[in-house]
Amino acid sequence: METYSDRNSLATTLRDRRQRLAQLLDAPVMLWSGQRSPRNFPANPFPFRASSHFLYFAGLPLENAAIYLKDGKLELFMDEAPPGSILWHGEMPKPEEIAGIIGADAAFPLSELPPRAPGAATIAVQDVITYLQQAQILNRRVAPANATEGIDRDLAIAIATLRLCHDGGALSELRQAAAVTVEAHKAGMRATKSAQLEAAVRGAMAEVIIAHNMMDAYGGIVTVHGEVLHNEQYHHLLQPGDLLLVDVGAETEMGWASDVTRTWPVTGKFSATQRDLYDVVLAAHDACIDKVRPGVEYGDIHLLAAATMTQGLVDLGILRGQVSDLVEMDAHALFFPHGIGHLLGLDVHDMEDLGDLAGYEDGRTRSDRFGWCYLRLNRPLQPGMLVTIEPGFYQVPAILQDSECRANYKDVVNWERLAQFSDVRGIRIEDDVLVTEQGSEVLTAALPTAAEAIAELVLSGGNLL
Ligand code: GLY
Ligand code: MN
Ligand code: MN
Repeated sequence: METYSDRNSLATTLRDRRQRLAQLLDAPVMLWSGQRSPRNFPANPFPFRASSHFLYFAGLPLENAAIYLKDGKLELFMDEAPPGSILWHGEMPKPEEIAGIIGADAAFPLSELPPRAPGAATIAVQDVITYLQQAQILNRRVAPANATEGIDRDLAIAIATLRLCHDGGALSELRQAAAVTVEAHKAGMRATKSAQLEAAVRGAMAEVIIAHNMMDAYGGIVTVHGEVLHNEQYHHLLQPGDLLLVDVGAETEMGWASDVTRTWPVTGKFSATQRDLYDVVLAAHDACIDKVRPGVEYGDIHLLAAATMTQGLVDLGILRGQVSDLVEMDAHALFFPHGIGHLLGLDVHDMEDLGDLAGYEDGRTRSDRFGWCYLRLNRPLQPGMLVTIEPGFYQVPAILQDSECRANYKDVVNWERLAQFSDVRGIRIEDDVLVTEQGSEVLTAALPTAAEAIAELVLSGGNLL
């Protein structure tokens, strides 16, 4: 299997990417990696994360570097570490050595970048200092990435075309991120019974990720308040009867991500009501994964999730009416207010810095409908795309207590019946699914989804509660 740890294969992968870019775009390209942000003073910075578009073509997370791509050639621009740096940071590879590893045609100091600038396309980085440098060196306005214009927009379209479908080098990294994420979730499940706080479960998962020299691909969610979709608090006590919603994914050193959610009872035992709703979400998860194959519209998978969840809620007596009518009126969104998933790659929501340019097929725009406005991907699936499938059920007070919502849906929700499910705040089940030529492959399939198997893993972790 091709791996990035093999130097030749990294250089070959990167060469192939820039040659394909040259076929899509005539203009030369300048991409910056970005720099660290200080926490409170420069010698104590936040961890560095290189810009994803830079990483795609330069492979390595180089700080304060730029690349120039033209006609399939790559030039690397970075300065040697200053003389005093060896005392604090040790010896750093020389730019020429790095150029060799990534198959660059030449390496230059940053001071030699400005003469290449005329006519170059770029994509705005997130850190403000580098963003200002981009505009200064290119001597023109650089629009934020989600509002690219002119040649920068042409570049964004070309890069999105390439990054939508993963090559062998990317897939090797994505599989490693998925495998470590699976192990982290198993560790989290096993740690739960002896944990007092959400933070202790998070810590057990972080231990696995860090021990593999990876980091979190996004702010991890380990919460008994799953109704807050991206909850990043970890201080709550785990109480008998709670469900723990855990959405944690690892990212490889080269920046490739995984994104997985499981929900488990902190005691290892689902109540009857929790189990009923868990199985509704799982039915949607399984139906959607079954549907993933080339040519299928991702929006139809979202629709299938909505219909499957709605059928389950009708069967439980929570919703009343015909499934198709309920989905048409967005009743599912009362409990499943987000999209069925998104692209996954170098970013957890891959290329979301470009707005909907990558996620939405040309000519399509985001709906403002309640049940559709958070759908992040709306394209026909192609082999090589990696997507998440992540249905969920949540009781969000801001939705369910909203007077307008209650009025709109008063005839279709059995509120008394719903009240019997008050021990479920949030359930989400999320896997990373690769579209293959024949159908799909779940990269995170080694992590069980069935309630019994999850309970077994939690129960295997001890017996303190
Ligand atoms: N972890 C963020 C998401 O699932 O989209
Ligand atoms: Mn996700
Ligand atoms: Mn997630």
